[in-house]
Amino acid sequence: MLRLHNSIRPAFRSRRWAHNIPSFSHLNTVNEEDLAHFSSILAPTSILSTLPSISTPADDIAPYNVDWMGKYHGQANSVLRPRTTQQVSEIVKYCAQRKIGIVPQGGNTGLVGGGISLQKEIVLSLGAMNNVRSFDPVSGILVADAGCILQSLSEHIAPHNHIMPLDLGAKGSCQIGGNISTNAGGLRLLRYGSLHGTVLGLEVVLPDGTILDQLSTLRKDNTGYDLKQLFIGGEGTLGIVTGVSILTPPAPQATNNIFLALPHFDNVLPLFQIVKRQLGEIMSAFEYIDRTAYDMGLQHGLGPLLSADEAGGSQCFVLVETSGGNQDHDLEKLNNLLESLLTADEPLINTGVLSQSPTQFNSIWALREGLTECVQKEGKPYKYDVSVPLADFQKVVDAVRERMISKGLYGDHAISKVMGYGHVGDGNLHLNVIAKHGYRPELEAALEPFIYEIVADRKGSVSAEHGIGSMKRDALHYSKSDVSIDWMRKIKQVFDPLNIMNPGKVIP
Ligand code: FAD
Ligand code: MLT
Ligand code: ZN
Repeated sequence: MLRLHNSIRPAFRSRRWAHNIPSFSHLNTVNEEDLAHFSSILAPTSILSTLPSISTPADDIAPYNVDWMGKYHGQANSVLRPRTTQQVSEIVKYCAQRKIGIVPQGGNTGLVGGGISLQKEIVLSLGAMNNVRSFDPVSGILVADAGCILQSLSEHIAPHNHIMPLDLGAKGSCQIGGNISTNAGGLRLLRYGSLHGTVLGLEVVLPDGTILDQLSTLRKDNTGYDLKQLFIGGEGTLGIVTGVSILTPPAPQATNNIFLALPHFDNVLPLFQIVKRQLGEIMSAFEYIDRTAYDMGLQHGLGPLLSADEAGGSQCFVLVETSGGNQDHDLEKLNNLLESLLTADEPLINTGVLSQSPTQFNSIWALREGLTECVQKEGKPYKYDVSVPLADFQKVVDAVRERMISKGLYGDHAISKVMGYGHVGDGNLHLNVIAKHGYRPELEAALEPFIYEIVADRKGSVSAEHGIGSMKRDALHYSKSDVSIDWMRKIKQVFDPLNIMNPGKVIP
């Protein structure tokens, strides 16, 4: 039996742990009078409600009350879909007067329950605000409504040979406003950095309805506090992002990728160092997939990138992408890398493939990007998105599997798979624990706070990129000190003294 390695067993600590159910006694539920007021601001088609005067069919309102995983269920009786910033402002002003809680919702692809109402707050969906306001092909600065879908923005700028600085598997549904509000990471962070750097300006409707216009298109602006940073990763708790100004990089002239099979997880770290050194400035992604995740991908029709023989005996896999300016130069570097890896005295890899065409390039990425959807098909996932030292990635996954075995909760009757994949280059592990037959309190109790303790012991983060939402609200203290949380509360109080803006999310 696999033994829990001492170095990964969480140390005893007397941290507080409880999932508290927030009380919203300070808030009112939307009634017919409120709907009449919203009808004076919005077109009839922009209001959905189960209340009699509107009577939206249950099936039409249901998608706004459940998240992508089917883990979080809301009770909003009304959804508003404004088309302009002015409309958002008028709605919020009214909600502040009436003390109605508001949940901003983008593409609803979030994985921590941040965009779903906890009780009967109203959902304010940004999907109808989807116009590109401007694009400057010289500077690469794009200004767009918050409700624009990430992929449609990529398509908008592609003819100008620019790309979005972020890319994620949910690109076909997630919105740029949602990306900014979650400070989404994704597959390009290693190359282009986080949204804290690439977002130049924001337009935000504050919780009293004031429009904060900071839609700057300046690369440099050192005029006092940089307020926009508070809304990047603010998860809709401080205001509603309605417009975005973002710096888009020129599309690389040459992109390539390789997929490597490694005999042992311990090889990942030395491999990362070698790849970084040999590829230098052209390395743009270094992604990790463990054996369980790879096999699951195959079962669901991804790949195969390697034959069963080639992949056999490999504990894990790595995807490396290069983005550079000259195809011959980049290919030479990649070929040299592969040759040196395969001919080393003690090779770090079993085998590898180099994409030879755009189709092969895409199918290598499809295997990595498709894992989230495969996990979803396998059952109900408990998704932990953590930052831990790279050397501990596999130990964390193994420790969690061992924990479930020791509790008698591992197998098709309970947790059928525990796997890891993620952004090695960013120190970000996606630990996925699949409940074959659905979410159950005893499964969650076995996983939490166990996993958060492990992360805290390694001085990691309980959220590397997905955010806190309602899932990790009570786990925030595993990564933030009491002083930090206290100052977060004070900031929330300054912006949202009535606590109407995404109440019960992020702040414990
Ligand atoms: P939503 O889910 O609608 O909302 C997310 C949060 O932001 C909520 O708290 C909501 O209240 C708030 N919000 C949304 N819009 C606004 C707004 N305009 N103003 C204020 N608050 C707002 N995440 C990553 O970081 N990296 C990945 O690689 C990644 N890959 C994914 C792959 C798949 C297949 C899926 C399903 C999800 C993935 N995610 C990833 C998670 C998710 O896609 C991101 O968090 C994304 O940024 C959420 O955008 P959204 O528009 O769907 O926001
Ligand atoms: C990813 O990197 O694939 C995403 O963050 C989604 C996930 O964790 O599954
Ligand atoms: Zn990710």
